[in-house]
Amino acid sequence: MAKKMWAGRFEKATDKAVNDYNSSLPFDCRMYSQDIEGSIAHSAMLAKQGIISQKDADDIREGLLSIKADIESGVLTFDSDAEDIHMFIEEELTNRIGDAGKRLHTGRSRNDQVALDQRLYCVDEAMEISELLDELKTTLIDMAKQHTSTYMPGYTHLQRAQPITYAHYLGAYIEMFSRDIDRLNQAIERTNISPLGSGALAGTTYPLDRKFVADQLGMKDVTYNSLDGVSDRDWAIEFASCMSILMMHLSRMSEEIILYASQEFKFYELDDAYSTGSSMMPQKKNPDVAELTRGKTGRVYGDLMTLLVVMKGLPLAYNKDMQEVQEALFDVVDTIKGALVPFIGMMKTMTIRVDKMEAAALGGFTNATDLADYLVKKGIPFRSTHEISGKLVHYCIENGKSLNDLTLDEFRQYSDIIEEDVYDAISLKTCVGGRTVIGGPATSTVEDYLNNL
Ligand code: ARG
Repeated sequence: MAKKMWAGRFEKATDKAVNDYNSSLPFDCRMYSQDIEGSIAHSAMLAKQGIISQKDADDIREGLLSIKADIESGVLTFDSDAEDIHMFIEEELTNRIGDAGKRLHTGRSRNDQVALDQRLYCVDEAMEISELLDELKTTLIDMAKQHTSTYMPGYTHLQRAQPITYAHYLGAYIEMFSRDIDRLNQAIERTNISPLGSGALAGTTYPLDRKFVADQLGMKDVTYNSLDGVSDRDWAIEFASCMSILMMHLSRMSEEIILYASQEFKFYELDDAYSTGSSMMPQKKNPDVAELTRGKTGRVYGDLMTLLVVMKGLPLAYNKDMQEVQEALFDVVDTIKGALVPFIGMMKTMTIRVDKMEAAALGGFTNATDLADYLVKKGIPFRSTHEISGKLVHYCIENGKSLNDLTLDEFRQYSDIIEEDVYDAISLKTCVGGRTVIGGPATSTVEDYLNNL
């Protein structure tokens, strides 16, 4: 085992089991590029402040860039007993450039270094996720624009309630994902702040220019308390919270995709490329992408819970427990990216069965409220019209009809105030078209909404 960088005060080497238990290299190696980026900025600042020579800073920069290139080309692998990615890179740097490599860590601790690396990593990934969410939102907007006059039942209690359009239905998810994007972008702002210079916990006596480092890294500001700087993981919890809410939305939509793709609904036909078959039942076409997304929601909630519980009750400042933050954070990133890409593809390729949606809207008495409202306009109080409409629905159920199928004579058996104009009043077009209130389903209202996004 290589000699530890902190071995000066130790008489014995670390036990192998302890070394394995302690090592974060198997997972924190994914932050190699952020670690290198942070070290280049730190060494440039050390030179600017006259703490190390410009020559050393140049050698450090060259050495780090060559390490990065070798990692990316596969020449340099992570099979090392180094304790973590920070030590791995520093050891490798010193092997390559000698003493200058040993000067890199001046005025820095792994405690502020790991806090920086994780923030940079989280910002990079969150920005990619934000772009994927923009793509999902655009996909739904494009779909909605095609369906502002496609009628479907709106549900409460999963019972057909009132007619809406498919565009209006999609609009609900467009709203949810818009909020998710806003939340994530705000979280990125709070994450993109540099803790470097907090040292191990109490800052440093070197005259560091912390803001210069933040600037070099494209970060918005620096942290203002060194204890907090090394031990704050709020931004990871905030990111996981945002992603949990996003998964909650995706899982609700997934649940409806699963239902709507069933033989019972048939509103959706999933593309073959986005469904799977059964090894036993030849007729099956399964909505696995939606089901996995619904399932993986639990996984992201679990990661959020891990982060909250790891951080709970930790005394200031750094504690090794915090190393556990990383795997939960990485799992959130992998799960979200893994879900969004196939989810977007599934939405883009599925066929919308306009005929089935409209038949369901017509068949489910979704215009019964409008029939009651029609009678109100003729002067009957709503409570009475509700009952008349209910009785007509009952009559239809008994006779296997929908309200629109009834003859005027049949209508008049329940209220002689009903006239020929009832048919227009209870048509899907009128029921939906009259709901022009802000946020309502009327075609013109939803078109305006979509055009203003
Ligand atoms: N691998 C460590 C982590 O992820 C880096 C910080 C180590 N700091 C220390 N004081 N042992 O937390």
